[in-house]
Amino acid sequence: LELEVLDAFIAKVQCLTMDVTDEGAYKALRKTFSQEDSNRLYYMATGSDLYTPVCRGLHSAGLITPQSKIVLEKPIGHDLASARAINDTVAEFFKENQIYRIDHYLGKETVQNLMVLRFANSLFESQWNQHYIDHIQITISESLGVEKRAGFYEHVGAMRDMFQNHLLQLLCITAMEPPARLEPDAVRDEKVKVLRALKPITGNLISDNVVRGQYDAGVADGKAVPRYRDEPGVHPKSQTETFIAAKVEIDNWRWAGVPFYLRTGKRLAERACEIVVHFKEIPHSIFPLQHKNTMANKLIFRLQPDEGVRLMLCEKRVGPGMNVRPMNLSLNPSNHRQTRVPEAYERLLFDALSGNATLFLRNDELLEAWRWVDPILSYWTELDQRPEPYTAGSWGPAAATLLLAKDGRLWDENS
Ligand code: BG6
Repeated sequence: LELEVLDAFIAKVQCLTMDVTDEGAYKALRKTFSQEDSNRLYYMATGSDLYTPVCRGLHSAGLITPQSKIVLEKPIGHDLASARAINDTVAEFFKENQIYRIDHYLGKETVQNLMVLRFANSLFESQWNQHYIDHIQITISESLGVEKRAGFYEHVGAMRDMFQNHLLQLLCITAMEPPARLEPDAVRDEKVKVLRALKPITGNLISDNVVRGQYDAGVADGKAVPRYRDEPGVHPKSQTETFIAAKVEIDNWRWAGVPFYLRTGKRLAERACEIVVHFKEIPHSIFPLQHKNTMANKLIFRLQPDEGVRLMLCEKRVGPGMNVRPMNLSLNPSNHRQTRVPEAYERLLFDALSGNATLFLRNDELLEAWRWVDPILSYWTELDQRPEPYTAGSWGPAAATLLLAKDGRLWDENS
């Protein structure tokens, strides 16, 4: 049956090659539509410099109606000013409720599970603040290099490709206040508040709190790989960062004094994405401790691979004495789910077609993220230096380890 469904779907697919900057070409596009727009979604999986010409072209061919929707890929713009200009132009053609700014990390099943665990269980929500949480780590590591995307990546780098969007979005979902309803604006209002409460990192604070790196030659998945500067299409003196780690703080009552350590990079030791909530240690232990750290509970949201949630607790080691050891309480969705976990894009494009914008970014959210990131990007441009090199296949530059070591902490080893 699935093959029949697939065939029926493929029969409906048409491919049209056109120059999207040529307004005249949109007449041909119009002809490919067999019926009037009932629920038409334009998905812009292109650079954001093409959003304006495409909107103009669609408009000139009469292809935008009140039912039409547009999905915009990230990164939208390269800084606050360009993002604002793009938002303003797209707004001339589409109303805000027709615009779906996609961030595929929000479509990952565990991210939505994080919202359910937080807001459907009193157990976690009552602990979700600076009284009980010591710090939070969010890691998106990739073993891939720049692959064949140098043309895109050279101008973008890890800050614009991953940090400004995916990492900050994961931070928002982890840190936001409970929304009053599961409605797009209720959720997005809370996410914007987190972005507005981010402590600015500017001037001298940047080198103390943000580390950027660029991979050198090394090993990935058992094979020797070249350094970033030797990848095809990369400038031999490129200053583009392929790694970022940052210590981020949120200035509000819930999170004052709780650092969020965020990191992402290409050509790291493995592909993994985790949000790890480190609870505070118990105030006093009556048990003999082998490792002091085993006493601090952790809640681990693993987005990929092997998605799932684990709560690290302590239990008694079997046998004489009262020795304590860590144990995991695991919620592994694939163990009890009958159905296949949808891909992030599958879920999000379906939501967009159904008119559900909860997992998409609103205009102001996008701008707030750029507002926070902008001073760091300008500082790096002025600094005009190569990011700190790290060996491909490692966990990034030494400065990233120091960033946590200064605070007496360690990055989590991925599990
Ligand atoms: C994209 C970035 O948004 O996310 C890529 O442009 C990156 O550089 C990718 O490789 C990672 O996505 P995922 O879902 O494979 O973790």
